[in-house]
Amino acid sequence: MTNNNINNIEDNKSKNITDEIKEANQKIANNAMVIFGGTGDLAYRKLFPALYNLHCLNTLPEDYEIIGVGRRDYSQEEYIKIVQDWMKEFSRLKYTDEKFEEFKSKIRYYKMDMSDSNEYKGLIDFIDSEGIEDGLIYYYAVSPELFDPITEGLKKGNCQKHSCQCENTPLNESCCMGDTKVIIEKPFGENLQAAEKIYSNLKSYFKTENIYHIDHYLGKEMIINIMTLRFANALFKAVWNNEYIEKVEINAYETVGVDSRGGYYDKSGALADMIQNHLFQIMSIVAMEKPKDNNTISIKDSQNEVFKQLKDIDGEKIDEILLMGQYNGYRDEEKVDPNSVTETYVALKLEIENERWKGVPFYLRTGKKLDKRESEVIVSFKSMEEGVAGNNLLIKIQPDEGVKLNFNIKKPGIGNQVIKEVEMDFCQSCILENRANTPEAYERLLKSCMDSDKSLFSQWKQIETSWKYINKIVDSYKKYSNKLYFYDIATNGPVETF
Ligand code: BG6
Repeated sequence: MTNNNINNIEDNKSKNITDEIKEANQKIANNAMVIFGGTGDLAYRKLFPALYNLHCLNTLPEDYEIIGVGRRDYSQEEYIKIVQDWMKEFSRLKYTDEKFEEFKSKIRYYKMDMSDSNEYKGLIDFIDSEGIEDGLIYYYAVSPELFDPITEGLKKGNCQKHSCQCENTPLNESCCMGDTKVIIEKPFGENLQAAEKIYSNLKSYFKTENIYHIDHYLGKEMIINIMTLRFANALFKAVWNNEYIEKVEINAYETVGVDSRGGYYDKSGALADMIQNHLFQIMSIVAMEKPKDNNTISIKDSQNEVFKQLKDIDGEKIDEILLMGQYNGYRDEEKVDPNSVTETYVALKLEIENERWKGVPFYLRTGKKLDKRESEVIVSFKSMEEGVAGNNLLIKIQPDEGVKLNFNIKKPGIGNQVIKEVEMDFCQSCILENRANTPEAYERLLKSCMDSDKSLFSQWKQIETSWKYINKIVDSYKKYSNKLYFYDIATNGPVETF
Protein backbone atom coordinates (compact mmCIF):
# COMPACT_ATOMS: atom_id res chain seq x y z
CA MET A 1 0.00 0.00 0.00
CA THR A 2 1.34 3.43 -0.85
CA ASN A 3 1.55 6.21 1.65
CA ASN A 4 -1.28 7.89 -0.28
CA ASN A 5 -3.61 4.94 0.17
CA ILE A 6 -2.84 4.90 3.84
CA ASN A 7 -3.48 8.62 4.01
CA ASN A 8 -6.87 8.24 2.33
CA ILE A 9 -7.92 5.65 4.85
CA GLU A 10 -6.73 7.93 7.62
CA ASP A 11 -8.65 10.87 6.15
CA ASN A 12 -11.85 8.86 6.15
CA LYS A 13 -11.21 7.71 9.68
CA SER A 14 -10.72 11.31 10.80
CA LYS A 15 -14.10 12.19 9.34
CA ASN A 16 -15.76 9.33 11.22
CA ILE A 17 -14.09 10.38 14.43
CA THR A 18 -15.32 13.95 13.96
CA ASP A 19 -18.86 12.65 13.41
CA GLU A 20 -18.58 10.57 16.54
CA ILE A 21 -17.45 13.57 18.52
CA LYS A 22 -20.44 15.54 17.29
CA GLU A 23 -22.81 12.74 18.31
CA ALA A 24 -21.15 12.45 21.69
CA ASN A 25 -21.52 16.20 22.17
CA GLN A 26 -25.22 15.86 22.22
CA LYS A 27 -25.01 13.34 25.03
CA ILE A 28 -22.99 15.51 27.39
CA ALA A 29 -24.80 16.28 30.63
CA ASN A 30 -21.87 17.93 32.36
CA ASN A 31 -21.87 21.24 34.04
CA ALA A 32 -18.58 21.97 35.69
CA MET A 33 -15.05 20.97 36.56
CA VAL A 34 -13.34 22.01 39.77
CA ILE A 35 -9.57 21.89 39.39
CA PHE A 36 -7.68 21.58 42.67
CA GLY A 37 -4.24 22.90 41.77
CA GLY A 38 -5.74 25.51 39.45
CA THR A 39 -2.52 27.52 39.45
CA GLY A 40 -0.18 24.55 39.07
CA ASP A 41 1.97 23.12 36.30
CA LEU A 42 -0.57 20.53 35.16
CA ALA A 43 -3.42 23.04 35.02
CA TYR A 44 -1.59 25.48 32.82
CA ARG A 45 0.31 23.10 30.58
CA LYS A 46 -2.35 20.47 30.04
CA LEU A 47 -5.80 20.93 31.61
CA PHE A 48 -6.72 24.47 30.59
CA PRO A 49 -5.30 24.03 27.07
CA ALA A 50 -7.30 20.80 26.71
CA LEU A 51 -10.49 22.52 27.90
CA TYR A 52 -9.82 25.52 25.64
CA ASN A 53 -9.38 23.19 22.66
CA LEU A 54 -12.56 21.30 23.52
CA HIS A 55 -14.29 24.67 23.65
CA CYS A 56 -12.90 25.62 20.21
CA LEU A 57 -14.20 22.30 18.85
CA ASN A 58 -17.64 23.10 20.30
CA THR A 59 -17.36 20.08 22.55
CA LEU A 60 -17.95 21.81 25.88
CA PRO A 61 -21.53 22.64 26.83
CA GLU A 62 -22.20 26.32 26.41
CA ASP A 63 -22.66 27.03 30.11
CA TYR A 64 -19.82 24.76 31.28
CA GLU A 65 -17.94 26.18 34.25
CA ILE A 66 -14.29 25.66 35.17
CA ILE A 67 -13.39 26.56 38.73
CA GLY A 68 -9.66 26.83 39.34
CA VAL A 69 -8.85 26.35 43.02
CA GLY A 70 -5.57 27.66 44.34
CA ARG A 71 -3.83 29.14 47.32
CA ARG A 72 -2.75 32.34 45.64
CA ASP A 73 -4.50 35.60 46.11
CA TYR A 74 -5.75 36.29 42.57
CA SER A 75 -8.77 38.30 41.59
CA GLN A 76 -11.03 36.81 38.93
CA GLU A 77 -9.58 39.23 36.33
CA GLU A 78 -5.98 38.43 37.26
CA TYR A 79 -6.62 34.70 36.99
CA ILE A 80 -8.26 35.03 33.58
CA LYS A 81 -5.31 37.05 32.33
CA ILE A 82 -2.94 34.32 33.51
CA VAL A 83 -5.01 31.59 31.86
CA GLN A 84 -5.00 33.66 28.67
CA ASP A 85 -1.20 33.72 28.66
CA TRP A 86 -1.11 29.95 29.19
CA MET A 87 -3.44 29.41 26.23
CA LYS A 88 -1.26 31.52 23.98
CA GLU A 89 1.70 29.36 24.90
CA PHE A 90 0.26 25.86 25.26
CA SER A 91 -2.92 25.53 23.20
CA ARG A 92 -2.76 22.93 20.42
CA LEU A 93 -5.27 24.83 18.30
CA LYS A 94 -4.42 28.32 17.24
CA TYR A 95 -5.13 30.87 19.97
CA THR A 96 -7.55 33.59 18.94
CA ASP A 97 -8.87 36.52 21.01
CA GLU A 98 -12.34 35.81 19.73
CA LYS A 99 -12.38 32.20 21.02
CA PHE A 100 -10.76 33.19 24.29
CA GLU A 101 -13.43 35.84 24.87
CA GLU A 102 -16.04 33.06 24.79
CA PHE A 103 -13.90 30.65 26.81
CA LYS A 104 -13.14 33.09 29.60
CA SER A 105 -16.80 33.38 30.55
CA LYS A 106 -16.53 29.77 31.76
CA ILE A 107 -13.63 30.42 34.15
CA ARG A 108 -13.86 31.16 37.88
CA TYR A 109 -11.13 31.38 40.50
CA TYR A 110 -11.59 30.21 44.07
CA LYS A 111 -8.90 30.83 46.66
CA MET A 112 -8.49 28.44 49.56
CA ASP A 113 -6.03 26.37 51.56
CA MET A 114 -6.67 22.85 50.26
CA SER A 115 -5.08 21.25 53.31
CA ASP A 116 -7.58 22.85 55.72
CA SER A 117 -10.78 20.81 55.92
CA ASN A 118 -12.63 23.76 57.47
CA GLU A 119 -12.39 25.68 54.22
CA TYR A 120 -14.41 23.25 52.10
CA LYS A 121 -17.84 24.34 53.23
CA GLY A 122 -17.00 27.72 51.64
CA LEU A 123 -16.08 26.01 48.37
CA ILE A 124 -19.29 23.99 48.35
CA ASP A 125 -21.31 27.15 49.08
CA PHE A 126 -19.55 28.78 46.13
CA ILE A 127 -20.32 25.84 43.80
CA ASP A 128 -23.96 25.91 44.88
CA SER A 129 -24.14 29.66 44.44
CA GLU A 130 -23.04 29.19 40.83
CA GLY A 131 -26.13 27.04 40.32
CA ILE A 132 -24.15 23.84 39.72
CA GLU A 133 -26.25 21.00 41.05
CA ASP A 134 -25.00 17.95 39.21
CA GLY A 135 -22.64 16.95 36.42
CA LEU A 136 -19.62 17.97 38.44
CA ILE A 137 -16.06 16.65 38.06
CA TYR A 138 -13.41 17.24 40.73
CA TYR A 139 -9.89 17.09 39.30
CA TYR A 140 -7.06 16.50 41.81
CA ALA A 141 -4.22 18.21 39.90
CA VAL A 142 -2.05 18.34 43.02
CA SER A 143 0.69 16.20 44.51
CA PRO A 144 -0.48 12.92 46.09
CA GLU A 145 -0.09 14.09 49.70
CA LEU A 146 -3.00 16.46 49.14
CA PHE A 147 -5.36 13.75 47.83
CA ASP A 148 -6.54 12.59 51.26
CA PRO A 149 -6.93 16.09 52.75
CA ILE A 150 -9.02 17.11 49.73
CA THR A 151 -11.25 14.04 50.00
CA GLU A 152 -11.65 14.56 53.75
CA GLY A 153 -12.33 18.25 53.22
CA LEU A 154 -15.00 17.60 50.59
CA LYS A 155 -16.62 15.06 52.86
CA LYS A 156 -16.66 17.44 55.80
CA GLY A 157 -17.82 20.41 53.74
CA ASN A 158 -20.66 18.44 52.22
CA CYS A 159 -21.70 17.03 55.60
CA GLN A 160 -21.87 20.53 57.01
CA LYS A 161 -23.73 21.86 54.03
CA HIS A 162 -26.13 19.03 53.27
CA SER A 163 -26.34 17.39 56.72
CA CYS A 164 -25.33 13.93 55.49
CA GLN A 165 -23.56 11.61 57.90
CA CYS A 166 -20.40 10.73 55.99
CA GLU A 167 -18.44 9.89 59.11
CA ASN A 168 -20.41 6.68 59.56
CA THR A 169 -20.44 5.67 55.92
CA PRO A 170 -18.91 2.23 55.45
CA LEU A 171 -16.11 1.94 52.93
CA ASN A 172 -17.23 1.33 49.36
CA GLU A 173 -20.49 3.17 49.87
CA SER A 174 -20.52 6.65 48.51
CA CYS A 175 -21.71 9.48 50.65
CA CYS A 176 -23.36 12.74 49.61
CA MET A 177 -21.86 12.85 46.16
CA GLY A 178 -24.50 11.34 43.88
CA ASP A 179 -23.00 11.18 40.41
CA THR A 180 -20.15 13.58 40.98
CA LYS A 181 -16.94 12.27 39.42
CA VAL A 182 -13.36 12.60 40.54
CA ILE A 183 -10.18 12.36 38.46
CA ILE A 184 -6.91 11.67 40.20
CA GLU A 185 -3.47 11.82 38.69
CA LYS A 186 -0.90 9.07 38.82
CA PRO A 187 1.22 7.85 40.58
CA PHE A 188 -1.82 7.56 42.93
CA GLY A 189 0.44 7.54 45.99
CA GLU A 190 4.10 6.75 46.57
CA ASN A 191 3.65 2.99 46.91
CA LEU A 192 0.95 0.33 47.07
CA GLN A 193 -0.02 1.10 50.69
CA ALA A 194 -0.37 4.81 49.98
CA ALA A 195 -2.33 4.11 46.79
CA GLU A 196 -4.69 1.78 48.68
CA LYS A 197 -5.31 4.37 51.37
CA ILE A 198 -6.09 7.09 48.83
CA TYR A 199 -8.45 4.77 46.97
CA SER A 200 -10.27 3.66 50.16
CA ASN A 201 -10.77 7.25 51.13
CA LEU A 202 -12.13 8.14 47.72
CA LYS A 203 -14.49 5.17 47.85
CA SER A 204 -15.97 6.36 51.11
CA TYR A 205 -17.11 9.49 49.35
CA PHE A 206 -17.48 8.85 45.61
CA LYS A 207 -19.13 5.88 43.91
CA THR A 208 -16.48 3.49 42.59
CA GLU A 209 -17.64 3.93 39.00
CA ASN A 210 -17.12 7.67 39.34
CA ILE A 211 -13.44 7.45 40.34
CA TYR A 212 -11.18 8.01 37.32
CA HIS A 213 -7.47 7.18 37.61
CA ILE A 214 -5.90 9.12 34.79
CA ASP A 215 -2.76 7.96 32.97
CA HIS A 216 -2.41 10.41 30.13
CA TYR A 217 -0.26 8.03 28.08
CA LEU A 218 -3.43 5.99 27.52
CA GLY A 219 -4.84 8.99 25.67
CA LYS A 220 -1.92 9.24 23.23
CA GLU A 221 -2.83 8.52 19.64
CA MET A 222 -0.12 5.97 18.87
CA ILE A 223 -0.63 4.08 22.11
CA ILE A 224 -4.31 3.67 21.29
CA ASN A 225 -3.13 2.62 17.83
CA ILE A 226 -1.04 -0.30 19.11
CA MET A 227 -4.10 -2.53 19.36
CA THR A 228 -5.10 -1.79 15.77
CA LEU A 229 -1.59 -2.37 14.56
CA ARG A 230 -1.35 -5.69 16.37
CA PHE A 231 -4.77 -7.15 15.77
CA ALA A 232 -5.88 -5.67 12.44
CA ASN A 233 -2.78 -6.70 10.47
CA ALA A 234 -2.12 -10.33 9.62
CA LEU A 235 1.47 -9.31 9.03
CA PHE A 236 2.04 -8.47 12.70
CA LYS A 237 -0.62 -10.59 14.37
CA ALA A 238 0.84 -13.83 13.06
CA VAL A 239 4.37 -13.24 14.30
CA TRP A 240 3.67 -11.52 17.61
CA ASN A 241 5.27 -14.17 19.82
CA ASN A 242 8.53 -15.65 21.07
CA GLU A 243 9.01 -17.73 17.95
CA TYR A 244 9.70 -14.59 15.94
CA ILE A 245 10.35 -11.78 18.38
CA GLU A 246 13.74 -11.44 19.98
CA LYS A 247 13.16 -8.47 22.27
CA VAL A 248 10.87 -5.53 22.90
CA GLU A 249 12.07 -2.09 24.00
CA ILE A 250 9.80 0.62 25.40
CA ASN A 251 11.54 3.95 25.86
CA ALA A 252 10.31 7.32 27.12
CA TYR A 253 13.17 9.78 27.03
CA GLU A 254 12.77 13.38 28.12
CA THR A 255 14.85 16.52 27.82
CA VAL A 256 13.06 18.28 30.69
CA GLY A 257 14.21 18.00 34.29
CA VAL A 258 12.00 18.29 37.34
CA ASP A 259 11.43 22.05 36.95
CA SER A 260 9.14 23.31 39.71
CA ARG A 261 8.09 19.77 40.71
CA GLY A 262 11.17 18.91 42.76
CA GLY A 263 9.17 18.47 45.97
CA TYR A 264 6.88 15.85 44.44
CA TYR A 265 9.49 14.19 42.24
CA ASP A 266 12.08 13.70 44.97
CA LYS A 267 9.60 11.52 46.87
CA SER A 268 8.53 9.68 43.79
CA GLY A 269 11.40 9.08 41.35
CA ALA A 270 11.28 7.68 37.83
CA LEU A 271 10.11 4.20 38.86
CA ALA A 272 6.88 5.55 40.37
CA ASP A 273 6.57 8.57 38.10
CA MET A 274 6.92 6.85 34.72
CA ILE A 275 7.52 3.08 34.91
CA GLN A 276 4.74 1.89 37.26
CA ASN A 277 2.12 3.63 35.16
CA HIS A 278 2.93 4.96 31.68
CA LEU A 279 5.50 2.37 30.61
CA PHE A 280 3.71 -0.54 32.28
CA GLN A 281 0.51 0.42 30.48
CA ILE A 282 2.30 0.43 27.12
CA MET A 283 3.98 -2.89 27.92
CA SER A 284 0.68 -4.52 28.80
CA ILE A 285 -0.94 -3.37 25.55
CA VAL A 286 2.01 -4.63 23.52
CA ALA A 287 2.00 -7.98 25.31
CA MET A 288 -1.65 -8.75 26.10
CA GLU A 289 -3.71 -11.49 24.51
CA LYS A 290 -6.44 -10.28 22.17
CA PRO A 291 -9.33 -9.20 24.42
CA LYS A 292 -12.44 -11.30 23.88
CA ASP A 293 -14.33 -8.21 22.72
CA ASN A 294 -13.92 -4.43 22.58
CA ASN A 295 -15.53 -3.93 25.93
CA THR A 296 -13.45 -1.87 28.40
CA ILE A 297 -13.53 -4.61 31.01
CA SER A 298 -12.26 -7.24 28.57
CA ILE A 299 -9.40 -5.01 27.44
CA LYS A 300 -8.41 -4.16 31.00
CA ASP A 301 -8.62 -7.82 32.04
CA SER A 302 -6.28 -8.79 29.21
CA GLN A 303 -3.82 -6.10 30.25
CA ASN A 304 -4.00 -7.13 33.87
CA GLU A 305 -3.16 -10.74 33.00
CA VAL A 306 0.19 -9.47 31.70
CA PHE A 307 1.01 -7.81 35.04
CA LYS A 308 0.12 -11.02 36.84
CA GLN A 309 2.41 -13.03 34.59
CA LEU A 310 5.52 -10.91 35.08
CA LYS A 311 8.41 -13.14 36.05
CA ASP A 312 9.11 -13.10 39.76
CA ILE A 313 12.15 -11.14 40.87
CA ASP A 314 15.22 -12.80 42.26
CA GLY A 315 16.13 -10.08 44.77
CA GLU A 316 19.83 -10.94 44.96
CA LYS A 317 20.13 -10.55 41.19
CA ILE A 318 18.33 -7.22 41.03
CA ASP A 319 21.32 -5.55 39.34
CA GLU A 320 20.84 -7.82 36.35
CA ILE A 321 17.41 -6.38 35.65
CA LEU A 322 17.48 -2.87 37.09
CA LEU A 323 19.69 0.15 36.63
CA MET A 324 18.99 3.43 38.40
CA GLY A 325 20.59 6.75 37.50
CA GLN A 326 20.53 10.39 38.51
CA TYR A 327 21.49 13.40 36.41
CA ASN A 328 24.33 15.56 37.66
CA GLY A 329 22.86 18.71 39.10
CA TYR A 330 19.62 17.08 40.24
CA ARG A 331 20.52 17.58 43.91
CA ASP A 332 20.71 21.34 43.34
CA GLU A 333 17.16 21.52 41.98
CA GLU A 334 14.58 23.48 43.95
CA LYS A 335 12.95 21.49 46.79
CA VAL A 336 15.23 18.48 46.19
CA ASP A 337 17.19 16.99 49.09
CA PRO A 338 20.90 17.91 48.59
CA ASN A 339 21.78 14.27 49.39
CA SER A 340 18.94 12.79 47.41
CA VAL A 341 19.29 9.26 46.05
CA THR A 342 16.11 9.53 43.99
CA GLU A 343 16.44 8.09 40.51
CA THR A 344 15.82 10.25 37.46
CA TYR A 345 16.74 7.42 35.08
CA VAL A 346 15.64 3.78 35.08
CA ALA A 347 16.37 0.84 32.82
CA LEU A 348 14.39 -2.27 33.70
CA LYS A 349 14.47 -5.67 32.06
CA LEU A 350 11.33 -7.76 32.46
CA GLU A 351 10.07 -11.11 31.32
CA ILE A 352 6.53 -12.31 30.94
CA GLU A 353 6.07 -15.92 31.84
CA ASN A 354 3.47 -17.21 29.44
CA GLU A 355 3.43 -19.26 26.28
CA ARG A 356 3.56 -16.25 23.97
CA TRP A 357 6.44 -14.41 25.61
CA LYS A 358 8.60 -16.85 27.56
CA GLY A 359 12.25 -15.96 26.94
CA VAL A 360 11.63 -12.56 25.33
CA PRO A 361 13.12 -9.66 27.32
CA PHE A 362 11.14 -6.45 27.60
CA TYR A 363 13.37 -3.44 28.23
CA LEU A 364 11.71 -0.39 29.77
CA ARG A 365 13.76 2.80 29.91
CA THR A 366 13.02 6.33 30.94
CA GLY A 367 15.03 9.34 31.99
CA LYS A 368 15.02 13.08 32.48
CA LYS A 369 17.44 15.71 31.13
CA LEU A 370 18.57 13.46 28.30
CA ASP A 371 19.71 14.51 24.85
CA LYS A 372 16.34 13.90 23.18
CA ARG A 373 12.61 13.77 23.78
CA GLU A 374 11.41 10.52 22.31
CA SER A 375 8.87 7.87 23.25
CA GLU A 376 8.79 4.68 21.23
CA VAL A 377 8.24 0.95 21.14
CA ILE A 378 10.84 -1.09 19.25
CA VAL A 379 9.98 -4.67 18.40
CA SER A 380 13.05 -6.56 17.18
CA PHE A 381 12.36 -9.73 15.24
CA LYS A 382 14.72 -12.68 15.10
CA SER A 383 17.11 -13.02 12.23
CA MET A 384 15.91 -15.54 9.66
CA GLU A 385 19.31 -16.21 8.16
CA GLU A 386 22.78 -16.11 9.57
CA GLY A 387 24.44 -12.76 9.07
CA VAL A 388 21.18 -11.07 8.03
CA ALA A 389 19.55 -8.47 10.27
CA GLY A 390 16.22 -9.32 11.83
CA ASN A 391 13.25 -7.08 11.01
CA ASN A 392 12.54 -4.11 13.21
CA LEU A 393 9.23 -2.49 13.90
CA LEU A 394 9.37 0.98 15.42
CA ILE A 395 6.18 2.51 16.80
CA LYS A 396 6.83 6.22 17.22
CA ILE A 397 4.73 7.69 20.00
CA GLN A 398 6.19 11.19 20.28
CA PRO A 399 7.24 13.77 19.27
CA ASP A 400 6.71 12.21 15.82
CA GLU A 401 3.88 9.74 15.45
CA GLY A 402 4.22 6.89 13.03
CA VAL A 403 5.36 3.38 12.25
CA LYS A 404 8.61 2.33 10.64
CA LEU A 405 9.44 -1.15 9.44
CA ASN A 406 12.93 -2.32 8.51
CA PHE A 407 13.23 -5.35 6.28
CA ASN A 408 15.70 -7.04 3.94
CA ILE A 409 15.93 -7.05 0.17
CA LYS A 410 18.52 -8.20 -2.32
CA LYS A 411 20.76 -5.39 -3.41
CA PRO A 412 20.01 -4.67 -7.11
CA GLY A 413 22.56 -5.92 -9.66
CA ILE A 414 23.37 -8.93 -11.84
CA GLY A 415 24.44 -11.99 -9.94
CA ASN A 416 24.71 -9.95 -6.82
CA GLN A 417 23.32 -11.78 -3.80
CA VAL A 418 24.13 -9.13 -1.24
CA ILE A 419 21.25 -8.50 1.14
CA LYS A 420 20.59 -5.02 2.35
CA GLU A 421 18.25 -3.52 4.90
CA VAL A 422 15.61 -1.02 3.75
CA GLU A 423 12.75 0.72 5.49
CA MET A 424 9.11 1.68 5.09
CA ASP A 425 8.28 4.73 7.11
CA PHE A 426 4.74 5.91 7.75
CA CYS A 427 4.76 9.30 9.38
CA GLN A 428 1.32 10.01 10.76
CA SER A 429 2.12 13.40 12.24
CA CYS A 430 3.63 14.66 8.97
CA ILE A 431 0.15 14.80 7.47
CA LEU A 432 -1.27 18.19 8.25
CA GLU A 433 -4.85 17.01 8.47
CA ASN A 434 -3.92 14.27 10.93
CA ARG A 435 -2.13 16.82 13.04
CA ALA A 436 -5.14 19.08 13.15
CA ASN A 437 -7.44 16.15 13.97
CA THR A 438 -5.30 14.50 16.60
CA PRO A 439 -6.42 15.66 20.01
CA GLU A 440 -3.93 16.01 22.81
CA ALA A 441 -4.14 13.13 25.27
CA TYR A 442 -5.81 15.31 27.91
CA GLU A 443 -8.49 16.52 25.49
CA ARG A 444 -9.42 12.97 24.72
CA LEU A 445 -9.36 11.90 28.37
CA LEU A 446 -11.35 14.83 29.79
CA LYS A 447 -13.94 14.29 27.09
CA SER A 448 -14.05 10.55 27.90
CA CYS A 449 -14.62 11.30 31.57
CA MET A 450 -17.42 13.72 30.72
CA ASP A 451 -18.96 10.93 28.63
CA SER A 452 -18.50 8.43 31.50
CA ASP A 453 -16.25 6.29 29.29
CA LYS A 454 -13.52 4.61 31.33
CA SER A 455 -11.82 2.67 28.56
CA LEU A 456 -8.85 5.03 28.43
CA PHE A 457 -8.33 5.18 32.19
CA SER A 458 -6.29 2.91 34.47
CA GLN A 459 -8.31 0.45 36.49
CA TRP A 460 -7.70 -0.15 40.15
CA LYS A 461 -6.85 -3.85 39.67
CA GLN A 462 -4.07 -2.90 37.25
CA ILE A 463 -2.73 -0.26 39.57
CA GLU A 464 -2.70 -2.71 42.45
CA THR A 465 -0.92 -5.47 40.51
CA SER A 466 1.66 -3.16 39.00
CA TRP A 467 2.39 -1.50 42.36
CA LYS A 468 2.94 -4.91 43.95
CA TYR A 469 5.56 -5.64 41.35
CA ILE A 470 7.24 -2.25 41.67
CA ASN A 471 7.24 -2.59 45.49
CA LYS A 472 9.18 -5.86 45.14
CA ILE A 473 11.67 -4.20 42.82
CA VAL A 474 12.19 -1.31 45.23
CA ASP A 475 12.58 -3.65 48.22
CA SER A 476 15.14 -5.79 46.39
CA TYR A 477 17.02 -2.72 45.22
CA LYS A 478 17.22 -1.32 48.75
CA LYS A 479 18.27 -4.64 50.23
CA TYR A 480 20.76 -5.85 47.64
CA SER A 481 21.92 -2.96 45.50
CA ASN A 482 21.42 0.74 46.18
CA LYS A 483 23.67 1.50 43.23
CA LEU A 484 23.03 4.84 41.62
CA TYR A 485 24.74 5.76 38.35
CA PHE A 486 25.25 9.45 37.66
CA TYR A 487 25.03 10.91 34.18
CA ASP A 488 25.63 14.26 32.56
CA ILE A 489 22.69 16.19 31.26
CA ALA A 490 22.04 16.19 27.51
CA THR A 491 23.51 12.70 27.15
CA ASN A 492 21.69 9.42 26.64
CA GLY A 493 21.82 8.50 30.32
CA PRO A 494 24.30 6.54 32.42
CA VAL A 495 27.04 4.95 30.32
CA GLU A 496 26.43 1.69 32.21
CA THR A 497 22.82 1.40 31.03
CA PHE A 498 21.52 -1.64 29.19
C1 BG6 B 1 4.07 12.81 33.76
C2 BG6 B 1 5.26 12.73 34.66
O1 BG6 B 1 3.12 11.85 34.10
O2 BG6 B 1 4.50 12.56 32.42
C3 BG6 B 1 6.30 13.74 34.25
O3 BG6 B 1 4.84 13.00 36.00
C4 BG6 B 1 6.68 13.54 32.80
O4 BG6 B 1 7.45 13.63 35.08
C5 BG6 B 1 5.43 13.52 31.94
O5 BG6 B 1 7.50 14.62 32.41
C6 BG6 B 1 5.75 13.15 30.51
O6 BG6 B 1 4.61 13.34 29.73
P1 BG6 B 1 4.73 13.57 28.18
O7 BG6 B 1 3.32 13.54 27.70
O8 BG6 B 1 5.39 14.90 27.99
O9 BG6 B 1 5.55 12.45 27.66
